[in-house]
Amino acid sequence: MDTFSMVLQDELDRRRSSLMERRYHKSGLDERATLTDFDWRFNPKLPRQACFELHTLKFIAEGQNALIIGKPGTGKSHIAKAVAYQATLQGHDVRYLEADSIFARYALDSGADQERHLRPLLNADLVVLDDLFLARRISDSAGEWLQTLIHQRYKLRRSIVVTSNRVVQDWGKYLGDNTMATTILDRLMHRSHLLEFEGKSYRLKEAAARFAQTPSVN
Ligand SMILES: Nc1ncnc2c1ncn2[C@@H]1O[C@H](COP(=O)(O)OP(=O)(O)O)[C@@H](O)[C@H]1O
Ligand SMILES: [Mg+2]
Repeated sequence: MDTFSMVLQDELDRRRSSLMERRYHKSGLDERATLTDFDWRFNPKLPRQACFELHTLKFIAEGQNALIIGKPGTGKSHIAKAVAYQATLQGHDVRYLEADSIFARYALDSGADQERHLRPLLNADLVVLDDLFLARRISDSAGEWLQTLIHQRYKLRRSIVVTSNRVVQDWGKYLGDNTMATTILDRLMHRSHLLEFEGKSYRLKEAAARFAQTPSVN
């Protein structure tokens, strides 16, 4: 390569990586999780194939959703974040949200702000809603927010990834006993991948390892 091409290539690389940096920061992700730093031997029943399938990001192109459901500490958030991070690397506009904190923020917004804050979430290529129904019942305003998000993104054929410790059968109950629950769930589950995470908690394993390292006090 001549000097000019090298300088040009350098500049292109620099721009691409600063773009990727910007997309990562905009996404709201708090870590760059990957599938390579995941230990598949720890919980051998996890749907490994389906995780790698999501990681190809085909579901985004096809406007499909993914529900990652199962026990705490089994790696649901990790996989959702790894998929989201991969999407930022591939040029997608991603928004990662912890369900409870977005509900709380939304409840404090005035009407005009609600509209303004929702817009980028409707336009993003991928929205990740992490830990939905952590506190089981959600407020009416959270329910309305969820309905708008899911309804609008469904119409636009844009993907949502949801993680939850709660089995899907109970979601209707947490949404309250109205027709809203049915329309939300209908749209979320239509064109959706269901990944079930059975197994033991990696958090407990890590905690146990820490205790083992701590010298005994007596
Ligand atoms: N199989 C695994 N291999 C490596 N790290 C894991 C594995 N499962 C979980 N972790 C890690 O354990 C912690 C808890 O996992 P997380 O994805 O938050 O679980 P969940 O969302 O299912 O409650 C995270 O730091 C995650 O990176
Ligand atoms: Mg989680």
